[in-house]
Amino acid sequence: MASQHLWSTPVQLGRLTLRNRIAVAPMTRVSATEDGQVTENMIRYYQGFAAGGFGLVITEGVYPDLIHSQGYLYQPGIGDDVQARSWQAVAEAVHGAGAKIVMQLMHAGALSQGNHRTRETVAPSAVQPKGEQLGFYRGQGPYPMPREITEQEIAGVIASFAAAALRARQAGFDGVEVHGANGYLLDQFLTDYANQRTDRYGGSTGNRVRLLVEVLEAVRAAVGPDFLVGIRISQGKVNDYYHKWANGQQDAEIIFSHVAAAGADYIHTTEFDAQASAFGEANSDGDTLAGYAKRFGKLPVIANGQLGTPEAADAVLARGGVDIVALGKSALANRDWPRRAVDGVAFEELDAGILQPLAHIKSSEV
Ligand SMILES: Cc1cc2nc3c(=O)[nH]c(=O)nc-3n(C[C@H](O)[C@H](O)[C@H](O)COP(=O)(O)O)c2cc1C
Repeated sequence: MASQHLWSTPVQLGRLTLRNRIAVAPMTRVSATEDGQVTENMIRYYQGFAAGGFGLVITEGVYPDLIHSQGYLYQPGIGDDVQARSWQAVAEAVHGAGAKIVMQLMHAGALSQGNHRTRETVAPSAVQPKGEQLGFYRGQGPYPMPREITEQEIAGVIASFAAAALRARQAGFDGVEVHGANGYLLDQFLTDYANQRTDRYGGSTGNRVRLLVEVLEAVRAAVGPDFLVGIRISQGKVNDYYHKWANGQQDAEIIFSHVAAAGADYIHTTEFDAQASAFGEANSDGDTLAGYAKRFGKLPVIANGQLGTPEAADAVLARGGVDIVALGKSALANRDWPRRAVDGVAFEELDAGILQPLAHIKSSEV
């Protein structure tokens, strides 16, 4: 007999009704054409998650402009109408299989390690990123030293997110998720050591969150009130896993209240372990990052990080504060995770060969 789970019932997200509370987390798979158009493999790959029962598919990070935003070679973009049109088939395929689809918009900033138009990278400040480039996306060695982005260029970045969101809407998507997490450009602005600006985008936490706010406001103005707009927020980064906000709970209050006031419909938090205390006892009252997002943002919250068992998904939902659970690696290992969970079928482990040596979509996946 099929088991009932807290996540297995429909839920409202903005004006969308999702058939359940399980989402596919955004995952970059570098399987587009060199100039950033969607390929047949990508259409089948995304359709597979919808056919497997997920309620919501969040795409991999998609670059919004044709200047500095591309992070990885063969990453898909939505910087012009040609790239945008190539996404229509993805939206249709996912809808045809009963799921909703949101496009994640991502500017890589200083973490760009593969842009087929330029080798120059931009960032809030000329600070070399920690860590090393990602090998499974064709990177090697340290990240290059970025150039400090000008205020005029910042205005261009904001406009490009808005234009990209509108293109996503025209391509048939149900919403966009602004990537404010994981070390990419918007998170670089949020991060004390990466942002050494002395203008209104640097200094206090309120100043460092300003670019995220202005991007959300511009996106909202471009797409109108009916289109879903979310934001992803994290502490850890692909190049600095253990980063914590210096002022813990106080920073959380500033960041989550500001992005909520800017017109976001949901906040998507990602942590290594979504059920762990975000800041520890010294710097907070011990809640999770998702818990603070709900408390200070007062919006629907998507939680991500090690939640790939029905028990973990149920536990975060039962605790309250989380509305939707997003699965990364467990979804890659089980395209039909929701169906398996309801039917009580055992899960597969992630085959390491899917992401190695390169992270592109393999023929076995489509
Ligand atoms: C191959 C791969 C690619 C990823 N690409 C992105 C991305 O484009 N955007 C993003 O926000 N997170 C990205 N992530 C992070 C995942 O969305 C997720 O936060 C992470 O896998 C942790 O969730 P999990 O414990 O369910 O796997 C990626 C993760 C993996 C494994």
